Amino acid sequence: MFLALQLLHSHSSSFNMANNTQILNLISMALLLLFVSNSEGYSAAEEEADRISALPGQPKVSFPQFSGYVTVNKVAGRALFYWLTESPNSPSSKPLVIWLNGGPGCSSVAYGASEEIGPFRINKSASGLYLNKFSWNNVANLLFLETPAGVGFSYTNRSSDLLDTGDRRTAMDSLEFLIRWLDRFPRYKNREVYITGESYAGHYVPQLARQIMVYNKKSKHPINLKGIMVGNAVTDNYYDNLGTVTYWWSHAMISDKTYQQLINTCDFRRQKESNECESLYSYAMDQEFGNIDQYNIYAPPCNNSDGNRFTRHSMRLPHRPHSIFRQLSGYDPCTEKYAEIYYNRPDVQKALHANTTGIRYKWTACSEVLNRNWNDTDGSVLPIYKEIIAGGLRVWVFSGDVDSVVPVTATRYSLAQLKLSTKIPWYPWYVKKQVGGWTEVYEGLTFATVRGAGHEVPLFKPRAALQLFKSFLSGEPLPKA
Ligand SMILES: *[C@@H]1O[C@H](CO)[C@@H](O)[C@H](O)[C@H]1NC(C)=O
Ligand SMILES: *[C@@H]1O[C@H](CO)[C@@H](O)[C@H](O)[C@H]1NC(C)=O
Ligand SMILES: *[C@@H]1O[C@H](CO)[C@@H](O)[C@H](O)[C@H]1NC(C)=O
Ligand SMILES: *[C@@H]1O[C@H](CO)[C@@H](O)[C@H](O)[C@H]1NC(C)=O
Ligand SMILES: *[C@@H]1O[C@H](CO)[C@@H](O)[C@H](O)[C@H]1NC(C)=O
Repeated sequence: MFLALQLLHSHSSSFNMANNTQILNLISMALLLLFVSNSEGYSAAEEEADRISALPGQPKVSFPQFSGYVTVNKVAGRALFYWLTESPNSPSSKPLVIWLNGGPGCSSVAYGASEEIGPFRINKSASGLYLNKFSWNNVANLLFLETPAGVGFSYTNRSSDLLDTGDRRTAMDSLEFLIRWLDRFPRYKNREVYITGESYAGHYVPQLARQIMVYNKKSKHPINLKGIMVGNAVTDNYYDNLGTVTYWWSHAMISDKTYQQLINTCDFRRQKESNECESLYSYAMDQEFGNIDQYNIYAPPCNNSDGNRFTRHSMRLPHRPHSIFRQLSGYDPCTEKYAEIYYNRPDVQKALHANTTGIRYKWTACSEVLNRNWNDTDGSVLPIYKEIIAGGLRVWVFSGDVDSVVPVTATRYSLAQLKLSTKIPWYPWYVKKQVGGWTEVYEGLTFATVRGAGHEVPLFKPRAALQLFKSFLSGEPLPKA
């Protein structure tokens, strides 16, 4: 009965209704859930406890949302925070899509959910939300995961964890999260799963996919992983770095001389370059780039007093997103700022079931501490690509072509190392009768550019990004017209 009351309570607050038939429906639903949960270990009750009735300042929506914590390591006390926004249209027939942001140390609640693919945007006064009509939850159930512990609301009770987390723990904890999360949401257990993300999640996404493949081999309840998709993805140190300086040169951001010197001096494979190479990078950025936004080279830079906190050093393990100011384009990328106001509000945290243990620092879009102390990183994830392609997963790689941080040339040099044979030769793909970008379909992998998009593709080109996502889910090549 306690359970049923609790269910009633959360349902009535979510739809704010007083109609008797609906209340009767709710009671029968609650009883049904009580029955289901008894036979399946009270998981429905756990799920219900995570239901979001409404976020402060949220417009009315027809899709259910859930958020909360999943413990991934009991000994250390590590718990990862997630936010599920289901699809408004027959969610049970749609796949589960996990989205991860990079950094390392950046939050997928801050970026993916609030300025890229999620259903809500935060408004300028950070007091309310409005709808994103190109949200990817139109076609899938979206699971935003803040990973690893230390990112956003995800926390650890062992503070030393913040100083030795890297790719390895991120993949292990994220797998543990997914297993435990599916226990909490058993209705998703056989659902098709896709893992997506951008930037440094170019590491997380294939690493997690491989971790799942290993887990599936020995598990009685394999996760129904179907594919991965990454954008402007960190892939291979050497080819990414070579491709990046080549992009700078080919987009006339640096001189011939600096380009030659970088090519002749830098190693490009190492995590820490020589002082000589470092000073060439500094020269290029400080003397030659000028005040541009490296994440979208043709956009005016964000004119915030602290807008330039993303120094070259924070790009070392590269590529955190960056505030960008572009007033004319119908979106406001300074939403990162609003996110830091909105998600620190106690009423918002309460509605999200977040920060239930009184985390000792503020919620931030990116964690400097994690980023600075990143313990281990794969020099290349191309060997993992080979494994997951061989394992039959669908693999799509896209690239916003005006990003100079993980640019399209970096991705092309990296992917070329896979030596895949071409299935459908290079062609322009279309969205609303315009060239959305270019694509080539290889055996085992589809590559696509998004024309005019910066580092965060769905922020800059939301319509094209949604088309890309739909094509990816359907497994069909991008439209030829
Ligand atoms: C972390 O510590 C708090 C306070 O002791 C506790 O309530 C919480 O359950 C712990 N978190 C985890 C994941 O063990
Ligand atoms: C933001 O949303 C809130 C709540 O809906 C509203 O009161 C406020 O006027 C909005 N602010 C802006 C700048 O749109
Ligand atoms: C940046 O903003 C400040 C204060 O709002 C203004 O004075 C300055 O002219 C702006 N700079 C640019 C390059 O727009
Ligand atoms: C968590 O809540 C405490 C207040 O209990 C607040 O001081 C802190 O900034 C919050 N941290 C996060 C990460 O939300
Ligand atoms: C830190 O990285 C090293 C390899 O560089 C690895 O052996 C070790 O397990 C990592 N630590 C953690 C906590 O993952």
